Amino acid sequence: MMRLRRLSHSYGDEPVVDDVSLSVDQGEVVGIIGPSGVGKTTLLRVLSLFLEPDAGSVELDGDAVWDADEDERLALRRQVGMVFQDASLFDATVARNVEYGLRVRQGWDERLREQLRSLVGSTATPDAVTDALEIVGLNGKLDQHARSLSGGEAQRVSFARALAYEPDYLLLDEPTSDLDPRNTGLIEEAIGEARDRGIGVVVATHDMHQAERVADRVGVLLGDGFTEIGPTETIFENPTDERTRKFISGELVY
Ligand SMILES: Nc1ncnc2c1ncn2[C@@H]1O[C@H](COP(=O)(O)OP(=O)(O)OP(=O)(O)O)[C@@H](O)[C@H]1O
Ligand SMILES: [Mg+2]
Repeated sequence: MMRLRRLSHSYGDEPVVDDVSLSVDQGEVVGIIGPSGVGKTTLLRVLSLFLEPDAGSVELDGDAVWDADEDERLALRRQVGMVFQDASLFDATVARNVEYGLRVRQGWDERLREQLRSLVGSTATPDAVTDALEIVGLNGKLDQHARSLSGGEAQRVSFARALAYEPDYLLLDEPTSDLDPRNTGLIEEAIGEARDRGIGVVVATHDMHQAERVADRVGVLLGDGFTEIGPTETIFENPTDERTRKFISGELVY
């Protein structure tokens, strides 16, 4: 389980999130919804263990990340994958981009190290790469250059790269903004597949309907914290907090 306890963070004097707690289990999808600028990306950056919060703790399977020494923290960080809003692919083929997800693991996973060693001098594509691309429906484009992909395809390759990394937790920041319904649907299916593989997924999105479709639990971020976190159905059909209700019904924009 990944757990945030009483997190607060400011940029300069401006508090973004204040006293926020959240837990994410492996094998569940947690949606974070809230208006632009409320702190969704900030929360994901803290969960990705790259941004040290001003206050509060982040725990991964019981280990407090910021109390750990640097080596331990690096090992903990390797359990978490993040897909940023801009796909940021390398100037290389689709297969190479996804393979990078494997390579960053090779230092600590003997099985993958073996798999990669056996690939030296060969042009074969590792199973984990074709498998991840299969999930996002792009197995036919292994050798296409990433620069020539459509925006939706690039997003899906970026998602496949994170899957190939085999994280315990996967953080997705607006994974389908600017995508058409077909690409959106493919990414949403891949989110379900990640969950079925036992990955704990966090999806930050300002598309509340997406959260309703993909999440098991939803946190509503308004002001400087969650007004409510609960099962998706409760949040959308029977919220207890008045501001949550207004936000869900579109009355409250911020
Ligand atoms: N590095 C930074 N320095 C200063 N202010 C920042 C920094 N990063 C974010 N902020 C501010 O913190 C607030 C929260 O930003 P954040 O990106 O977390 O919001 P968000 O909910 O992800 O918004 P969006 O839906 O538009 O992506 C914003 O007001 C933003 O301007
Ligand atoms: Mg954001």
